Amino acid sequence: MSFSKKRRVKFFYDSSAGVYNKRYQEIQMIKYTILLRKTHEIRSLVVDVGCGTGLFCELLTMRGFRVVGIDFSIEMLRRAKKAVTLQKVFLVCCDSDFLPLRGNIFCGAFSVTLLQNLPNPMLSLNEIVRVCKKGSMVHLSVLSKSLNVKDLEILLSQAGLRDIEVFGSLGSEDIYGHGKI
Ligand SMILES: C[S@@+](CC[C@H](N)C(=O)[O-])C[C@H]1O[C@@H](n2cnc3c(N)ncnc32)[C@H](O)[C@@H]1O
Repeated sequence: MSFSKKRRVKFFYDSSAGVYNKRYQEIQMIKYTILLRKTHEIRSLVVDVGCGTGLFCELLTMRGFRVVGIDFSIEMLRRAKKAVTLQKVFLVCCDSDFLPLRGNIFCGAFSVTLLQNLPNPMLSLNEIVRVCKKGSMVHLSVLSKSLNVKDLEILLSQAGLRDIEVFGSLGSEDIYGHGKI
């Protein structure tokens, strides 16, 4: 069941990768601005889970972060590879439920509009927490039509995050949340 949902999602992004930026760049940029307003981390190594075509990776590198981008759609990553400042961004093609990365290496994590694609978002959230250092922040957004503020709050607290804040933003299709590991 969850395997076939993932296959459908992967197929969708593989086949629409060529038009993704044209269709979604503008709306995603608004989300990045909202997320970055709440980001006060030192500019260090962070992970962008479900990075897609690398739009946010690029913005993060421009702000001085070193970034690892994760996505399971090879076609989305192909676009990312063309777009991002490659010497600063390391791209990994994998399922976010199973990150092939050592624990405790990142100083922060971002994930923009990924969670609604996941059959069991807790698996990826647990992985995000595992690969981040204690004290680092997780910032994410999810389509509001798939999760409400209360649901997201529960997910973040089940992942063991502290100092959680979840909020909507007028005119944005996503809700936003962050918390400390
Ligand atoms: C709505 S797009 C968002 C992309 C990017 N975060 C942005 O801001 O443009 C969702 C992305 O999540 C990826 N994705 C969905 N399920 C995934 C999974 N289980 N593991 C890794 N990536 C996944 C898709 O391939 C797609 O690139």
